[in-house]
Amino acid sequence: MANIRFNNVQKSYGPFQAIRNFDLSVEDGDFCVFVGPSGCGKSTALKMLAGLEATSGGTIEIGGRDVTDLGPGKRDIAMVFQNYALYPHMTVRANIGFGLKMRNMDKAEINAKVEEAAAMLELTDYLDRRPRALSGGQRQRVALGRAIVREPSAFLMDEPLSNLDAKLRVQTRSEIVKLQKRLGVTTIYVTHDQVEALTMATKIVVMRGGVIQQIGTPEDLFETPANLFVAGFIGSPGMNFFRGPVEVENGRAVTRFGDQKVTLNVAPEKLSGTHAIFGIRPEHMVVGDTTMPGAPVALSLVESLGTEKILHFPTPKGQALEGDTGIEGSDDAERDAQTMLARVIDDRRYRDGETVHVALPEGKVHVFDPDSHVAL
Ligand SMILES: Nc1ncnc2c1ncn2[C@@H]1O[C@H](COP(=O)(O)OP(=O)(O)OP(=O)(O)O)[C@@H](O)[C@H]1O
Ligand SMILES: [Mg+2]
Repeated sequence: MANIRFNNVQKSYGPFQAIRNFDLSVEDGDFCVFVGPSGCGKSTALKMLAGLEATSGGTIEIGGRDVTDLGPGKRDIAMVFQNYALYPHMTVRANIGFGLKMRNMDKAEINAKVEEAAAMLELTDYLDRRPRALSGGQRQRVALGRAIVREPSAFLMDEPLSNLDAKLRVQTRSEIVKLQKRLGVTTIYVTHDQVEALTMATKIVVMRGGVIQQIGTPEDLFETPANLFVAGFIGSPGMNFFRGPVEVENGRAVTRFGDQKVTLNVAPEKLSGTHAIFGIRPEHMVVGDTTMPGAPVALSLVESLGTEKILHFPTPKGQALEGDTGIEGSDDAERDAQTMLARVIDDRRYRDGETVHVALPEGKVHVFDPDSHVAL
């Protein structure tokens, strides 16, 4: 059994606190992804788990054993990094078997394990080559092979695919997921790519500035983000945000979007003040002609991806967010608070400059406290 626990772990570099109050429980067999923007502390957290960095506070357990003060060699884990660090003068066979040889395992046994791993990773034909005669994806698989043969109680991977081109990355991604399912080994995987996190993880840890923002399944994070940051970070294109008034009518909280009145899924007593921040995913925006109640907007850009279209339009007057909202778009950072997107799949032709009406479907609107940015 190899569950993993971080108990209130801290990490400081001098006065700088890189990790704060890190509490996490990963179950046996989980594929857990740490995701967040550059510098948020993902690698630091992973290195503390691996024993490559000391903690400044708190404890870490692997398989119920406190490993906080154990060296990396005593933690029964295998790591795969971005730069796979293969030995260039050794064959693939020797690279994969290296860790076993260091443990003085019997030669025949090493060979059997190496060949089994190579078959699993489709490297059988390459066993006698040296790393320089392999593609990037094949090299990465050798690095995985080296981790697999050690039969560790956990795999730790830090951006293992970032040296691969886009196509190979997608392919290797699904290979890693299949392999992990087959082996059932608890895995912690670090990436700054939210799409990678959503597609691979059984459990995602979203981090920002050394602090865990939310822990959940991909569905949890997508459907019920805990705050504005997670809402903006998870999903692409990212969620639209806008400001709006809040009122109570017949005991229900309502807001306005353009001239549409929208009933909110929020208990009125949770709303403090006269306005809130709202979020709506581009795929949930309703787009219609000017007879539909909603906000009239002029399309500023129409991106056609075949049947799917991404419509850009200005946020309705007076509803754009102001100041530093703490929103960090994961992959559409060029977007500003003045622009919203709708993702539509229909046969209608949209023209740049055309005026359409956009509206919000009830039940799909996220509401955030305007000061704390916490989801209500
Ligand atoms: N040895 C160190 N001394 C001082 N500061 C450090 C050290 N190592 C990391 N940091 C700082 O700690 C913070 C977290 O770094 P970390 O490498 O964990 O980020 P990350 O989330 O892995 O980012 P990336 O996606 O860019 O790899 C950063 O601000 C970094 O500058
Ligand atoms: Mg890192």
